Amino acid sequence: MIVARTVADLREALRSRRSDGPVGLVPTMGALHEGHASLLRAARANDSTVVMSIFVNPTQFNEQADLAAYPRTEEADLALADAEGVDIVFAPDAAEVYPDGFATTVSVSGPIAETLEGAERGRAHFDGVATVVTKLLLAALPDHAYFGAKDAQQVAVIRRLVADLGIPVQLVVCPTSRDADGLARSSRNTRLTPDERSRALAIPRALEAVKDAAAHGVTDTGALRARAVGELEAAGIHPEYVAFVDPETFAPVAAVDAPVLVAIAARVGATRLIDNTVLGGA
Ligand code: PAJ
Repeated sequence: MIVARTVADLREALRSRRSDGPVGLVPTMGALHEGHASLLRAARANDSTVVMSIFVNPTQFNEQADLAAYPRTEEADLALADAEGVDIVFAPDAAEVYPDGFATTVSVSGPIAETLEGAERGRAHFDGVATVVTKLLLAALPDHAYFGAKDAQQVAVIRRLVADLGIPVQLVVCPTSRDADGLARSSRNTRLTPDERSRALAIPRALEAVKDAAAHGVTDTGALRARAVGELEAAGIHPEYVAFVDPETFAPVAAVDAPVLVAIAARVGATRLIDNTVLGGA
């Protein structure tokens, strides 16, 4: 496994491999867990060469404290990547990605980037994601790039920018990887106390309750939302949002007559968790 610290080294490592077949890119911020590993396995199954990036992207953090506290576990991450058969890890430092004089931002506008996570975390969050993902795609020029459905709005933002900028890559969206009890895997889960963790299970339970009601013919998203909020409140969780939106545009939806993304964000204790599911047409 090659570890490239510069774009030049990444391109050099890729040059001879492109003729072997397709290249897959899995962008990450490190602190890898089984959710990331599921993306690496999908890439390994599809692509001749698998590139994983590790870059804790400063521009997508709205709080300096959050950036400083972000876990950096490069040694363990490289071991996991190696075990999953990654060919090249691209792990640049901030100066490589944002050299002196850097002055360009890729900014997706509209509800995709401005509502829900965009509203809660601030405009800069998805600008930071869009800019760094554009740079990573241009650095590796992969045939496929892998993202997790857990971050559904991030996927919608990236889908938009890839289409708008005409970046020649196929996006592969991998299902949310969950612990046996249903909680979506996240590096933040380790911060939950045992009591918080058991209360957090109300989030996947709320999504299941909505799916169940929709399967029994409830189509009004107001009624569906009330079920989800009921599950959450019963566990003492006051959600930041429980939203029913079009999965591509993130426009709010009143009735389930086409695929609808149900997205939840909630703090459990001090830990902010997000999760989602898609209703109808799936
Ligand atoms: P990070 O949070 O490290 O996540 C990297 C990728 O792993 C993302 O595509 C995310 O959706 C996916 N992922 C995380 N948890 C998952 C789970 N439980 N199941 C399936 N996939 C999961 O997302 C980012 O980094 C950054 O914003 C990035 C795209 C790298 C840009 O900086």
